[in-house]
Amino acid sequence: MKINNDNIIISFKNLSKKFGDFQAVSNINIDIKRGEIIGFLGPNGAGKSTTMKMMAYLLKPTKGEIWIRGNGKLEKLSNHNKDYLLNNIGFLIENPAFYGNVSPRMILKYFAELKGYPKKKVNQRIEEVLETFGMMNWIDKKIKTFSKGMRQKIGIASAIIHNPDIVVLDEPTTGLDPQARREIRDFILNLKNKGKTIFLSSHLLYEVSEVADRIAIINRGKIVAFDTLDNLESKNQKSIINIELLNHPEDNELDRILEHIREILIPFIGVSDDLNWLNYNKDNKIFQVLFNGDPKNQLIILKTLLRHEYEIIEFSVPKAGLLENLFIDLTSSEKTQYLDKKFDENQKLKEISMEV
Ligand SMILES: Nc1ncnc2c1ncn2[C@@H]1O[C@H](COP(=O)(O)OP(=O)(O)O)[C@@H](O)[C@H]1O
Ligand SMILES: [Mg+2]
Repeated sequence: MKINNDNIIISFKNLSKKFGDFQAVSNINIDIKRGEIIGFLGPNGAGKSTTMKMMAYLLKPTKGEIWIRGNGKLEKLSNHNKDYLLNNIGFLIENPAFYGNVSPRMILKYFAELKGYPKKKVNQRIEEVLETFGMMNWIDKKIKTFSKGMRQKIGIASAIIHNPDIVVLDEPTTGLDPQARREIRDFILNLKNKGKTIFLSSHLLYEVSEVADRIAIINRGKIVAFDTLDNLESKNQKSIINIELLNHPEDNELDRILEHIREILIPFIGVSDDLNWLNYNKDNKIFQVLFNGDPKNQLIILKTLLRHEYEIIEFSVPKAGLLENLFIDLTSSEKTQYLDKKFDENQKLKEISMEV
């Protein structure tokens, strides 16, 4: 089997979890490579925390396995090796709850010792970690005086206090203000620069798209996509291009112009006769063209407009809007069935080619 691949540090194999009759996680197959950030993206209730709890051995899979690299080789997580395998992982799962009367120093000491971090080095390590969060001044203050963002930073600090190679963070920035979110995001990138492998969940697309090397989208317990952002986009074959013309159309000529632009572009962009592929936003005076994402066509669209003497003063291909579309597409109920089928087919092909 391919589990000898040296780069893989975690491997989910048909990982599944049922609560009674309810299938919360269904046949997850994901390989995580050393040093990468995997964004685990899905709407609330999709099964993210359940998956992460199975990694932390807080929940047992009803089917499937989790393999984690221990001493050089991947090992199936089970009762007899969980302590040693999980010592190399830092977990922050759901909101950490701390007693209000303790200080960061006490909390971090507790977790460092729990994870067997060398006693002699604990104090230095605590200071080093708090320093990276700019929280040294708070080292002996009581948690009850902390803001939500500060508590979350202490939660992350306690997850990584023993300096693990793998870090699992479940919605680390949810509910935080933009400043705290940015600090946590920078901290995650900093961990990656130190060679750590990071498995990061969020229900917010932009939070994982900013940092993740690859994104696994989970919906109703199933992985509906797993790839780099760029590949997800080009596979999805849908891009938006925003265009502002030098001469903004007057109300009474708008319909005619829209019709004309449709006429000249339709041979090149290969879209259906659904007219929504071209829109005009009167507020910001921007034309929005939905096309199949091929960069060649992006050029053709612009050239064609120019050839017909539309003067373009600005154009852009907004990344966020595009990604949002993709995420909504993949997690909306109608499409899910189709994608499930597609994904199962791909999975089957993969399995077959693995056997050969
Ligand atoms: N202990 C449990 N018992 C029953 N159902 C659960 C339990 N934990 C989670 N669920 C259900 O499983 C689904 C996935 O939950 P969860 O993994 O927490 O989603 P996410 O973290 O993606 O928001 C949800 O529908 C949730 O209600
Ligand atoms: Mg959750």
